[in-house]
Amino acid sequence: MSTRTLIRGGLVVTAADEVHADVLIEDGRVVALAAHGSDVAAGWTADRTIDATDRYVLPGGVDAHTHMELPFGGTFASDTFETGTRAAAWGGTTTIVDFAVQSVGHSLREGLDAWYAKADGNCAIDYAFHMILSDVNEHTLKEMDRLVQEGITSFKLFMAYPGVFYSDDGRILRAMQRSADNGGLIMMHAENGIAIDVLVEQALARGETDPRYHGEVRKALLEAEATHRAIQLSRVAGAPLYVVHVSAEEAVAEIAAARDKGLPVFGETCPQYLFLSTDNLAEPDFEGAKYVCSTPLRPKEHQAALWRGLRTNDLQVVSTDHCPFCFVGQKDLGRGDFSKIPNGLPGVENRMDLLHQAVVDGHISRRRWIEIACATPARMFGLYPQKGTIAPGSDADIVIYDPHARQTISAATHHMNVDYSAYEGKTVTGQVETVLSRGEPVIDQRKFTGRAGHGAFTPRSTCQYLN
Ligand code: URP
Ligand code: ZN
Ligand code: ZN
Ligand code: ZN
Repeated sequence: MSTRTLIRGGLVVTAADEVHADVLIEDGRVVALAAHGSDVAAGWTADRTIDATDRYVLPGGVDAHTHMELPFGGTFASDTFETGTRAAAWGGTTTIVDFAVQSVGHSLREGLDAWYAKADGNCAIDYAFHMILSDVNEHTLKEMDRLVQEGITSFKLFMAYPGVFYSDDGRILRAMQRSADNGGLIMMHAENGIAIDVLVEQALARGETDPRYHGEVRKALLEAEATHRAIQLSRVAGAPLYVVHVSAEEAVAEIAAARDKGLPVFGETCPQYLFLSTDNLAEPDFEGAKYVCSTPLRPKEHQAALWRGLRTNDLQVVSTDHCPFCFVGQKDLGRGDFSKIPNGLPGVENRMDLLHQAVVDGHISRRRWIEIACATPARMFGLYPQKGTIAPGSDADIVIYDPHARQTISAATHHMNVDYSAYEGKTVTGQVETVLSRGEPVIDQRKFTGRAGHGAFTPRSTCQYLN
């Protein structure tokens, strides 16, 4: 028995178009769009009709950078796949791409299988994986080829965190050469971690232990230097490069310069870099620990370059880097030593709303909002047009969005499993009303109607954003 859902009367916004159209869904997929009020649309019948008058009808968000249950600094990110994907759905995100972790001395297979096990049966929305490479060697390089075949088509490398995730330039080059052959996309955490560790040691020796020093030692120049080096290595390897969580103006300039040369270099930034700053890191009474992430928050002056990059397409994607740690019991680990504060911010629930606020504020257009939050992440990571748009054949991952509702972001009302909000008290215009995942309501008129286990692992093709 097929089930049909009809969404009537909304403004369908995709990266390409804004049209007043009715959307017909059958068996979890979009089958047709027709102009609202047309004879074709009027003739459609369905088991369920959603009235979207005065609402936007959006493709579900694709958050290409999350860390559910990430082990870090002796603890684990506080959202599980169950709590994190539920919160994502509340915020209008219907697909996450999380990072499976290879630990040093172990295979990619082991790390990936552990991630399948964590996610399996627990997710409210669809999910996919990137693979973090912590130990590039002959065996790992061969495994990369197999992972690409399995739908794990992107690999994150770290120029930061010596002794944990860090890879030296030789290992980075080898992984890039391999990805040039197998079609994988290298994602780079671009910070000079060796130099940063020297500055950390010196700061602590001076008694500079507060959270704000996290921002001071992780210098913008060291992000820019690593970004530049990663770009040159990728040129040598003949591989495309995606730089994650770009926060410094100088790093944006490196990416822009590479793109001006026509190189396949891409950049992602995150809401925390667009809306927060070192002012937050400097909050007294250890409150700054709530804002410790890497790359770090920057002085406000950097934000203009990030917004400009998003408008000019020097930056293509906004993901959250969602990696929550509770203030009490986790961020606490770094009282008296900022280098022991677990790195990461919560945000998977807030991304679509914050970026809509950016539309309201005039930073980006409505279609650009959908492009950077839905369509391009789907294309970049091989999920398009199954995800990231509303078109015949696409999964019916759809958000009914009220662009006029006002809401105040708060830990008291959010659904992420973390005891604070990085955006506490911020009022934004716009709110998710209903969310469909493959046609099934996960959020229905601001009630959670989804279930753990509805979300399915989604294998990905290689990058679709290269030409
Ligand atoms: O501070 C962050 N970003 N934590 C998550 C790990 C990473 O580097 O993305
Ligand atoms: Zn092992
Ligand atoms: Zn990173
Ligand atoms: Zn991350």
